[in-house]
Amino acid sequence: MSRLTESEVWKALQEHYRQIEPLHMRDLFAKDPGRFEKFHLQFNDILVDYSKNRITEETMQLLYALAREVQLDRWIERMFSGEKINVTENRAVLHVALRNRANRPIYVDGRDVMPEVNAVLAHMREFTEAVRSGRWRGYTGKAITDIVNIGIGGSDLGPVMVTEALKPYGKPDLRVHFVSNVDGTHIVETLKQVHPETTLFSIASKTFTTQETLVNAHTARDWFLRYAHDEAAVAKHFVALSTNEKEVVKFGIDPKNMFVFWDWVGGRYSLWSAIGLSIALYIGMDNFEELLTGAFEMDEHFRHTPFEQNIPVTLGLLGIWYNNFFGAQTHAILPYDQYMHRFPAYFQQGDMESNGKRVDRDGHVVDYSTGPIIWGEPGTNGQHAFYQLIHQGTKLIPCDFIAPIETHNPIGEHHKILLSNFFAQTEALMRGKTEEEVRKELEAAGMSGEALEKLVPHKVFPGNRPTNSILVQKITPRTLGSLIAMYEHKIFTQGVIWNINSFDQWGVELGKQLAKAILPELEGTQEVTGHDSSTNGLINHYKRHRLR
Ligand code: F6P
Repeated sequence: MSRLTESEVWKALQEHYRQIEPLHMRDLFAKDPGRFEKFHLQFNDILVDYSKNRITEETMQLLYALAREVQLDRWIERMFSGEKINVTENRAVLHVALRNRANRPIYVDGRDVMPEVNAVLAHMREFTEAVRSGRWRGYTGKAITDIVNIGIGGSDLGPVMVTEALKPYGKPDLRVHFVSNVDGTHIVETLKQVHPETTLFSIASKTFTTQETLVNAHTARDWFLRYAHDEAAVAKHFVALSTNEKEVVKFGIDPKNMFVFWDWVGGRYSLWSAIGLSIALYIGMDNFEELLTGAFEMDEHFRHTPFEQNIPVTLGLLGIWYNNFFGAQTHAILPYDQYMHRFPAYFQQGDMESNGKRVDRDGHVVDYSTGPIIWGEPGTNGQHAFYQLIHQGTKLIPCDFIAPIETHNPIGEHHKILLSNFFAQTEALMRGKTEEEVRKELEAAGMSGEALEKLVPHKVFPGNRPTNSILVQKITPRTLGSLIAMYEHKIFTQGVIWNINSFDQWGVELGKQLAKAILPELEGTQEVTGHDSSTNGLINHYKRHRLR
C-alpha cells in the first residue's frame, strides 16, 4: 500500500464516499438553498460554481485535509522558488518565472533567472514591433504578411490555441499558420497559401532535435530557397525559438534571429516563453504581456490563497474525488466559446502528458488511478454529438463548462441562445428527469397505456452528473492567461496528491526510438523479419504495395 492510500484522510474519504454515493444532487439542492453561496469561488472576473458536484461540506473538508496531508503548500513553494522538483530530469519547473510580472528574483543554481527572462521579452518586443509595423522586410523589400510556426506538441498547441482564442485581438493583415504534423500534407497545404517574399517561418522547438519539426523546417527552407536562390535571404525569413543554440546554428539560422528559453520551461508550459512569439506577432506584445499578467494574477492567487478559497486547488481536489473515489476515467472540458475551440486539445497535452504516469516520485508503481483522459469540444456542437452519453450513458463524466458573459460578436440572439444552452445543460445534468416527470410529460402529450410504458425508461435521465461552471466576463488576453494558469495549477495540485512527477514525459520516447529504427528498413525491397509478425507483416505489405 502506498503512503497515500494508507493515510487516514484517504481512508476517511473512502468511507465518506460510501455515504455520498447514494445521495442525489437534486435533493442536496432542495435541502440547502444556500448551496450556490457555499460552493462558488470568484477571482477577478472569473466565477467558478462547483455546487453541482456530488459533495457536501464534509466532502470538501476532507479533500482540503488531503491537500494538507500531502503538504501541497510546500510543493507550491518549491515550484515557485525554483527547486528542482522535476527529479527525473533534474530540472526546476519555472513557467511561473516567465510571467513573474512582479519581477521578484527567482534563483536556479544560485542565479536569478529574471534578467534573462526580461531580456527575451525585450527581444520579442523589438522583433514583433518591427514585423508588425512593416519595418522588418523580406528579401525583396516587402513587408511580412504571413507567419508560419513550425513546431509540435507544446511548441504548437499553445500558440495555436491562444491565437485562435484571441482572434479578435489579431492584426487583420497578418495571418498565422501552424504546421505540426510530419505528414507532408500539412506543410504542402500551408505553403500553398503563402508567398516566400512575404512569409516568416518561426521554427519552434525546445530541443531543436524533434524529427517532425526538423523535417518540416527543412522542407520549408528548401521551398524558400527554390524562389530566393540566396542563402543570405534565409536570415530575413527564418527565426528559431529554442533552448539549443548549437542545433539552431547547424540548421542555418543566425543566432541573432534566435529567441531563447531554458530547460526549466517544460514543453507543454512553454507558450509563455519565446515559443509564444507567433502569439505576440499576431496579437502584439502589449496583448501578449496582458496574457502573462493574467497568468501571473492566477499564480499569485494559487500561491497565497487558503485552500478553501483557492480555485485551482478546489478544482484539482474535485477531480481527485471523481477519479479516485467514483472511478471516473475521463474529464470533459466544454468551452461555450467558438474562439476557444482548441482549449480542450491544448489541455489534453497539458494534463495527459503531465499526469499520465504510473510510477510515483520514488519509482513505485502506484496503487491508485492517476491522470484522467481529457477531451471535449465547444458547445453547442458537443451537445449534438456526445452529450447523449454524458446524460444517459453508463459512465460518469465530470465536465467543466466554460463561457464568457460578453461575446466579441454580439449579433442577434446568438449569445443569449448559447448561454441558455450552457445553463440548461448543467441543470439537466444535475437534476435529470424522473420517471414521474416523464410520465406526466407523456400523458400531457396524449400518450397512455402500453405505448407510454414502453417509452418511459428511455426518457428518464438519472441526473446526478457533476459539472463545474466557469463564467468569465469576456475572453480577453488577461482572462485567458488566468484560465490557462488555473488549469496548469489544477494539474500541479493533482500531481502532488498522486505523488508523481508531472514534468517529465518519458512515455513519448519508445515510439520515437522504434520509428527511427524502422525508417531505414522502409528502403529497398528486402523482406523485414526483425519484428513481431504483425509489425513485419505491415511493413512488408507496405513495401510490396508501394512499389506498384
Ligand atoms: O511530445 C513530447 C514533447 O517532448 C513535448 O513535451 C514537447 O512539447 C514536444 O515533444 C515538442 O518538443 P520540442 O519543443 O523539443 O520540439
